[in-house]
Amino acid sequence: MDKFIIWNSSLKGEVEVSGSKNASLPIMAATLLTDEECRISGVPNLRDVHTMIKILEGLGKDVEFQDGTLIVKSKKSRSYTAPYPLVRTMRASFCVLGPLLAKRRKAKVSLPGGCVIGPRPVDLHIKGLRELGANIKIERGYCLAEAKSLSGRHIFLGGEFGPSVLATANILMASTLAKGETVIESCACEPEIVDLSFFLKKMGAEIIGEGTPLIRVRGKRSLGGAEFTVIPDRIEAGTFLAVSLATHSPLTIKNTNPLHLTSVIEVAKKMGASVKINSDSLSISPPSYIKPVSITTLPYPGFPTDLQAQFMVPLSLAKGVSLVTEKVFPDRFMHVAELNRMGAKISRNGPYAIIEGVRSLYGAEVMASDLRASAALVIAGLAAQGKTEVLRIYHLDRGYSHLEEKLKKLGAKIKRER
Ligand code: EPZ
Repeated sequence: MDKFIIWNSSLKGEVEVSGSKNASLPIMAATLLTDEECRISGVPNLRDVHTMIKILEGLGKDVEFQDGTLIVKSKKSRSYTAPYPLVRTMRASFCVLGPLLAKRRKAKVSLPGGCVIGPRPVDLHIKGLRELGANIKIERGYCLAEAKSLSGRHIFLGGEFGPSVLATANILMASTLAKGETVIESCACEPEIVDLSFFLKKMGAEIIGEGTPLIRVRGKRSLGGAEFTVIPDRIEAGTFLAVSLATHSPLTIKNTNPLHLTSVIEVAKKMGASVKINSDSLSISPPSYIKPVSITTLPYPGFPTDLQAQFMVPLSLAKGVSLVTEKVFPDRFMHVAELNRMGAKISRNGPYAIIEGVRSLYGAEVMASDLRASAALVIAGLAAQGKTEVLRIYHLDRGYSHLEEKLKKLGAKIKRER
């Protein structure tokens, strides 16, 4: 198991963000909707992308991946099972269910189960597919879905924690081959859903309303192959904003779409930073001291839950008390205990975390637990006095490509030890 050794660092310069993991994964699943060749560029070289490649290969696809471009072709095999060992390592694999069912009329996908950020229920995915006419059984940890044909419906997809990103993706993909019109109400508005919709339209799908809470789809008999480039990763860009704030380092973040980060830029400004935005980059100059703020994570365009852990680090060093309310995954606080071991003063009560700013954090041996919590520990290591060791960084490799190289280029004292 690899670990990072990190020392207190101040950084400066430019960093290039990679393509979006959370756009790439559903778009890769969407290639199951056609037997024709698809070429997808700007795909980040991540563990999760390689897991999805394995799942597609198990489902009869031939996948080539080089220099960020995926070439997906179809082989003969008609398997329709996404096995537990692969789905267990990446919950997002569940988004192969919709396209597989729509194209092959049959799908057997392992239930994702829970993970450290909380239970990962799939009731909305199942509700939506049943409404399209699927016959779904849950047996021995697998979701078995069959459908002679799918027909469009008006589907309400809202859940008690707001819309579901991947349930929206699953239903959107399945509806492109359903008979007639499907209306998906209270669907996710994330930029990654918009990107998926753009890819589906390149394949010949007829969709309007992506990016709004109501999407209309007119089903087609079949979809063709497509060439596409995925959007930059807004969560990686936001992670570097947190790096800048926590280490008082002015940074320019390139290959990013600032319009995808409005709520995050607002928070950074409230914390005292000045942020200059251009069409495909943004520059942040952090304040000499961080002002405390209140952050509530919400579905897009609210503050993203995927940046909650990272922003806790600069807030741990703010002049005053901050409040973080986690409304999307109320248990997503695995990073709190580890940050407190580094000298932070964070107290958690249910979905609330109260952060009392301290003068400094101190290096320690800490354990990564999930992808974004691990990023928070790396940021804390860069900001802390002394040496930090972050263990189990395979969590990080799932969602950040070449993170240590990118940080080293900015002047960070960080190294990976096998
Ligand atoms: C996507 O996960 C992202 N993953 C997550 O990013 C992100 O945190 C999440 O959306 C929220 O933005 C990918 O896109 C691959 P949800 P997803 O369904 O779709 C509840 C990362 O770090 N819910 O939008 O699985 C659920 O429990 C990852 O890159 C139901 O109740 O999340 C949660 O409280 C982590 N029933 C809320 O909805 C369902 O059927 C939002 O979850 C589905 C979800």
